[in-house]
Amino acid sequence: MLNIVLFGPPGAGKGTQSERLIEKFNLVHLSTGDIFRYNIKGETELGVLAKSYIDKGQLVPDEVTIKMLRSEVLKNESAKGFIFDGFPRTNAQAEALDAFLAVLNTSITLMAALEVEENELKERLKKRAEVSGRSDDADPEIIANRIQVYKNETAPVKEFYQTQNKFVSIDGVGSIDDITNRLFEAITKF
Ligand code: AP5
Ligand code: MG
Repeated sequence: MLNIVLFGPPGAGKGTQSERLIEKFNLVHLSTGDIFRYNIKGETELGVLAKSYIDKGQLVPDEVTIKMLRSEVLKNESAKGFIFDGFPRTNAQAEALDAFLAVLNTSITLMAALEVEENELKERLKKRAEVSGRSDDADPEIIANRIQVYKNETAPVKEFYQTQNKFVSIDGVGSIDDITNRLFEAITKF
């Protein structure tokens, strides 16, 4: 299996690039943010809980997120591999991910981290707010909080994969096509 963690701060292009990678490599795309938003729309119990965190730009608790992702992975046992978009966001999530991939006799192949500086992220998200309808895009303060939470709680997850020699840094600025090519090259070479 080819299992990729597509990592990066809010607005780095994880969703955009995932769409391209799943086609190229025939993978299942698991975006925790998308799954939460689907549940929010359906007003499920999980959605109501997740909304209370997402609307503030905070992380949904590990326990809830891990349980949800585990069930999505196990639903797709016969997949050729996965792209994890927006997961793991804490070291506890990274450890849990290793554990449930082991159940499928597989593991993470690599983490590709899209690097984009803060002002560019804010510009992208401000622009997307005009069309996305995402509550967490609507307010610059919430956007700033999401970026801060990324720095404090999520960026350290890079080290988890660096110590396993599974970490690749990708310049996330430029045209969408150029970034896709950088990712293809990095994944193919790995
Ligand atoms: P999530 O949905 O994962 O949001 P995010 O990480 O904040 O990132 P985005 O989806 O906003 O950005 P992206 O990197 O996908 O970029 P995109 O391709 O859209 O999470 C939302 C919330 O859910 C979290 O805050 C948290 O509360 C909760 N959550 C999710 N996962 C969790 C977890 N594991 N644990 C706990 N809580 C969790 O691109 C952004 C914009 O830029 C688009 O408009 C796009 O068109 C544009 N763009 C893309 N590429 C380029 C480019 N090269 N140049 C110019 N513009 C570009
Ligand atoms: Mg996204």
